[in-house]
Amino acid sequence: MKVTLSVIKADIGSIGGHIRPSERLLETVGKIVAEEGKGLLIDSYIGFTGDDIAILMSHTSGTGSEKVHKLAWNAFLGGTATAKAQGLYGAGQDLLKDAFSGNVKGMGPAVAEMEFEERPSEPFLLFAADKTDPGAYNLPCYLAFADPMVSSGLILSPKVGKGFTFRIMDVMNTEGDRVIDLNAPEDLYDIAALLRDQERFVVESIRSRATGEIAASVSTTRLHNIAGKYTGKDDPVMLARTQGNFPATGEVLAPYSIGHFVAGFMRGSHHGSLMPVPKNTGTSFFDGPPIVSCLAFSMKEGRFTEPADTFAHPYWDYVRAKTSAKSEELRRQGFFGPAMLPYSELEYGGIVERLKDMDRRFRTLGEK
Ligand code: F6R
Ligand code: MG
Ligand code: MG
Repeated sequence: MKVTLSVIKADIGSIGGHIRPSERLLETVGKIVAEEGKGLLIDSYIGFTGDDIAILMSHTSGTGSEKVHKLAWNAFLGGTATAKAQGLYGAGQDLLKDAFSGNVKGMGPAVAEMEFEERPSEPFLLFAADKTDPGAYNLPCYLAFADPMVSSGLILSPKVGKGFTFRIMDVMNTEGDRVIDLNAPEDLYDIAALLRDQERFVVESIRSRATGEIAASVSTTRLHNIAGKYTGKDDPVMLARTQGNFPATGEVLAPYSIGHFVAGFMRGSHHGSLMPVPKNTGTSFFDGPPIVSCLAFSMKEGRFTEPADTFAHPYWDYVRAKTSAKSEELRRQGFFGPAMLPYSELEYGGIVERLKDMDRRFRTLGEK
């Protein structure tokens, strides 16, 4: 049967700053999804990563379904009322528009969706990251879907070895979705040349070249493009199908042992090492660190198993210690150089005003 997976996530308020949503907030969102999802959803799962709540849904309405998007929007609106009632910080933060207009894309929440013919066994992964932006998945996607040094299936499995098509989006383009499709392995250097720039070029989706099937889908929201100013980082979600014609689950997970540096962290303005964390983990140090969770599901006729919490495994304890050490090292140099994001990414009002003000006071010596 043809099934659609939709994950829609938003930050609608947190306890004690930007740490994590409250239990009551999660309950409210869950209740609305359960009630309004009757007859529309086959199954759903709700969890959080840092201050973001993700709603995973299976259904048969296809991607971009107004009904499914409206349901998520209503759940976040209802949740916002609870967040306000509890005095949570940043209540309704990611709901940037007043009225729902057919699709939550461009309204604040992050969306990743895929429609496919369900396999007899359908393993897939739900990634959710906080204190970072969609480019955080660039390196892990490149390594899992295009680099045999990490993803052995590219040389060991004939189907996986046919390679993958990367759809890459220029997220600085605000006029519309500007994308390019590039094939690994032939276009590897072109793919690398784009993906190195995590703030501008972002993996939007990946397809199998053996079968044309969708393999991965990433949310590409840039909140500052919607709001015109800093409103928090974009905290991306990703769906990835695994096994068979796709990389194995462990191959998709493997790149997260690097703890690569990503944009985000305190005030969305710094670089930090991306830490793989268990489900429902909040934030702490320096409003971070940037974190990513990954839940593995199996699915039958659109019904989910309980999630297997991939980064809760003891193997990742060492990786977490390593990413703390990497972030610590960079934090030692405070705001200098690569510790803080470049000017173009500094949306935080105060510093932009400060720099503009000084720009007027600059003068060129010797000029009349
Ligand atoms: C928000 C975030 C935080 C805030 C910071 C300041 O997702 O990452 O680092 O930017 O806590 O928040 P305000 O300016 O709202 O006090
Ligand atoms: Mg936030
Ligand atoms: Mg967040």
